[in-house]
Amino acid sequence: MNPFFRFINSSVGKKVLMSLTGIFLAIFLIEHLAGNLLLLKNDNGEAFNGFAKFMGGNPVVRVLEVGLLSLVLLHIFNGARLWLGNRSARDKGYGVYRLNENTTLQSRMMKISAALVFVFLTVHMKKFWVPARFQGEHDIASLVYYTFQQPFYVIFYLTAFFILGYHLRHGFQSAFQTMGFRTKKYQSLIEFAAVLFWLVLPIGFAVIPLYIYFFGGSPVAFAQ
Ligand code: HEM
Repeated sequence: MNPFFRFINSSVGKKVLMSLTGIFLAIFLIEHLAGNLLLLKNDNGEAFNGFAKFMGGNPVVRVLEVGLLSLVLLHIFNGARLWLGNRSARDKGYGVYRLNENTTLQSRMMKISAALVFVFLTVHMKKFWVPARFQGEHDIASLVYYTFQQPFYVIFYLTAFFILGYHLRHGFQSAFQTMGFRTKKYQSLIEFAAVLFWLVLPIGFAVIPLYIYFFGGSPVAFAQ
């Protein structure tokens, strides 16, 4: 077998792939949050819709979007492979997989949080991405404003961001361990970067539904 594929199919290779795809997805979230914060401008969603139009119409961005969705699928598929691999090794009773109770609980929580983030993403894409890309909806800002005037969606999104924060926190911990970055020299820098991702990003996202629910935003097209 080609050495690259042999590595990618090994247990370490799967962990490295998991870490790299996870880090790239987390970087996407920075861009996504920056764009979404335009929703807080008091301009009837004009700036956000302009941004969404640019993102939807630019061929380079469309190619990047295919790359992004492939990364999401690869992260999920590889996570499932890693999990199944660990499970079968544990069933066979290999000593190395005899995890202590904390590790077992943490890895179980990672799977549960991954499944819940997946549920969130499915709802999220159906709610915003499908109308923007496939149903010719041009006033996505109004759709977001309308959605976040409904308490159900505000609670749903806030819960999802909390779970995402958990998933990112533990994801970063294991990614840094896998990549061997947890040396004393870089420890505090790494911890600072991790906090930006698992704490600041979800809080940044949470501000959007909360602000819209409590202070408005004008769902011009969706007002009934
Ligand atoms: C309040 C928070 C959020 C808002 C208002 C929001 C809004 C949107 C909108 C309007 C779109 C589709 C239109 C477009 O791309 O221009 C979109 C796409 C997407 N969102 Fe979000 N989003 C939020 C949080 C998140 C989070 C936390 C994640 C990941 C865990 C996420 C993942 C995605 C993905 C993967 C896409 C499709 C790719 C893309 O087109 O950029 N979003 N989001």
